[in-house]
Amino acid sequence: MIPPFEFASAGRIVFGVGSAKGLPAFAAELGERLLLVTGSDSSRHNGTIGGWETRIAGHVAITGEPTVDDAVRGARMAIDCAATGIVAIGGGSVIDGAKAIAALARNPGDPFDHLEVVGRGLPLANEPLPVIAVPTTSGTGAEVTRNAVLGSPAHRVKASLRSPRMLPRVALVDPALSLSLPRALTASCGMDALVQLLEPFVSARANPVADGFCREGLARIGRALPRVCEAGDDLGARTDMALCSLLGGLALANAGLGAVHGFAGPLGGMYPASHGTLCAALVAPVTRANLDALKSRGDARGSRERYAEAARLLLGNDAAGPDDLVAWLADLTASLGIPSLAAQGVRAVDFEAIIAGAARASSMKANPVALETDELRGILRASCGA
Ligand SMILES: [Fe+2]
Repeated sequence: MIPPFEFASAGRIVFGVGSAKGLPAFAAELGERLLLVTGSDSSRHNGTIGGWETRIAGHVAITGEPTVDDAVRGARMAIDCAATGIVAIGGGSVIDGAKAIAALARNPGDPFDHLEVVGRGLPLANEPLPVIAVPTTSGTGAEVTRNAVLGSPAHRVKASLRSPRMLPRVALVDPALSLSLPRALTASCGMDALVQLLEPFVSARANPVADGFCREGLARIGRALPRVCEAGDDLGARTDMALCSLLGGLALANAGLGAVHGFAGPLGGMYPASHGTLCAALVAPVTRANLDALKSRGDARGSRERYAEAARLLLGNDAAGPDDLVAWLADLTASLGIPSLAAQGVRAVDFEAIIAGAARASSMKANPVALETDELRGILRASCGA
């Protein structure tokens, strides 16, 4: 029986090597006064900005994973420069920052009215400014997701602004833009993409449309991720990774995530570790715990078979099963040089606060099985390398 579902995405998705050349025409559709959002060094994107620079009325640099204050400041700039649209060129932090700026520029009250978990989660009353999202990393799929993850340092947590209205107008995915991404970022972003293909596939909200994206992505990323970390100039592998990131974004925005992302929210708010490295350190222990819980407490949705299918796709081996998947994930994380949670600064004294935060996270609700406190503690211990 197919569960009821909805599918929504960016207004247009344009994918391919060289597709960034279409940016001037898309920018022209957004009007004469555009806010440019980039990372700390916008000169890296000079080639991408060419041909529409006279439309740039203001520039916001997002220098790390964005905070509520970054979004409020950017929204004020969008209002001050009378922006008619936003062009975001960068990684997931930049694109999420731009989506939040676009939403708050047209809904300029208290941002906590709309923020999930630490705020009131009220819907956006007004349509955000239109956004063109041009990703330069392959990981978050933020170009096709309807939320923006924002840090709230006062609450030591990350939470989302979320609305179908926050889907970008155009997602312009040019794999060539990721060619210069350093190896460590390629690895951590790539592990985020992998988790974002695995979690929606086993999610309690899995649906046949998202499943198709997950299968296509899982079949590619098992080979593409090790390859791209070995040879960053391999445009074929970069193209596979850009596609996998896009497919993960399409899947998670419509089928939800799971416990890896449930933990990544509070952990990202409490420690300065990057989202991708946190997800990478968690994925093998979470998969082990989910499989064990499904075995001991029943598996009405057939989630263990889902994990087995993911194993076959990722490993490219028809004989692979769920246990092989756990071992492969742990080996991949180690071979990419991703540190344990303990090496990323996570301390046992914070476990109870992390668990309390994870239990409130929206992603945790889509995990294929409800995990108990002891199991969540066990995941943290294993992810810390204990
Ligand atoms: Fe993620």
